[in-house]
Amino acid sequence: MAEVSYARGLAGVIADESKICVIDGVKGELYYMGYPIQELAEKSNFTEASYLLIYGKLPSKTQLENFRAELTKNREIPKFIEETIKKFPKKTHPMTALQTCVAMLGMEDIPSEKDSRETNQKRSVKLIAQFPTLVAYFARHREGKDIVKPNSDLCHAANFLYMLNGEAPTDEIAKMFDTCLLLHAEHTFNASTFTGRVVAATLADLYTSVSAATGALFGPLHGGANEKALEMAKSIGSVDNVDKWFDEAMASKTKIMGMGHRVYKTIDPRAKILKGLLLDLSKKAGNTNQLEVLDKLAEKMAEKVKAEGKEIWPNVDYFSGTLYELMGIDSIYFTPIFAVARVAGWSAHILELWTDNKLYRPKCLYTGDIDLKYVDIADRA
Ligand code: ACO
Repeated sequence: MAEVSYARGLAGVIADESKICVIDGVKGELYYMGYPIQELAEKSNFTEASYLLIYGKLPSKTQLENFRAELTKNREIPKFIEETIKKFPKKTHPMTALQTCVAMLGMEDIPSEKDSRETNQKRSVKLIAQFPTLVAYFARHREGKDIVKPNSDLCHAANFLYMLNGEAPTDEIAKMFDTCLLLHAEHTFNASTFTGRVVAATLADLYTSVSAATGALFGPLHGGANEKALEMAKSIGSVDNVDKWFDEAMASKTKIMGMGHRVYKTIDPRAKILKGLLLDLSKKAGNTNQLEVLDKLAEKMAEKVKAEGKEIWPNVDYFSGTLYELMGIDSIYFTPIFAVARVAGWSAHILELWTDNKLYRPKCLYTGDIDLKYVDIADRA
């Protein structure tokens, strides 16, 4: 048998081919279908980026209009899911509710292995349209408020905030939030996308695969980090407390949430863009305190790890929590919002995989015993 190398956590392993997204972790670059993220953040929007990911190219004006109309038309969720959401225990975490509801979408629109690519593309568009509704409906329920129905006059981002908060955001907040969604839409073989691909590669259906990806995003080492980064910034409180907090964190080997990345060995380009948005909004809100805390903490970390020859920089989750908080969003919804964006990337990957499917099946390095003698239960110590 050929010699196979061992990479714990699959670090650095190339597990498949993809044309969807590429990261240069050394230069800090990220591209969706070949387009640099900075340019997309500046000139495009989440709806167009979703089209790009699902169909593989930028849309014409008519294609974009039709796509936007499809997204708007498909925002409503099946009645039985709406009714079930109203019965969920209010203490349920919104990610648990979301993962459950995504699987439930496959109860009415029952997929089959024979479904065409076009059918699954349409399902993907529906998923992108329905994720915000699923998150917002459960949010309203857990807060004891009436569900707010989608508003077809509002764009994807503004409609989500409207369903969540019961009032439409300003154009400026809607635009910023849309950019946040665009920045989170795709990121190659991260844990949730890889999970989605692994499940899809068994030829399980789109809803099951996306539901599994949603579950993987829940963890604090992945999508849950922005909530933790915000908690951390708040507990530090002020820039004067950073030195002491940092020394204690390092002494107790506490991981700084929102920092470090498996691929980026420099600042995550999305974090740079988010920091710009945060600076803008913080200044407008007349409170840059939390941003200053985050900045100083990042500087301290950079100094420390430089001396150790390591590279630990802010990732996408470092600034987003503080930004969302300034937009009036409760931290429990940060990870579901990540899912609202990433469903575009998950769907794109699953569609791509199915054009030339291959089951994922890595090996493990066995470190247990072998050839033990079975001892009858009566004779065991
Ligand atoms: N704070 C302190 N030390 C860190 C951090 C951090 N955030 N990240 C890495 N390190 C240190 C580790 O302690 C380790 O040190 P050691 O070599 O002395 O043991 C070294 O850097 C390597 O760390 P690993 O965790 O092995 O790096 P890996 O590439 O496996 O992990 C990960 C990447 C999980 C993201 C890690 O950096 C981390 O836990 N960060 C905090 C959580 C976070 O922000 N997650 C979001 C990631 S982005 C996303 O999912 C959208």
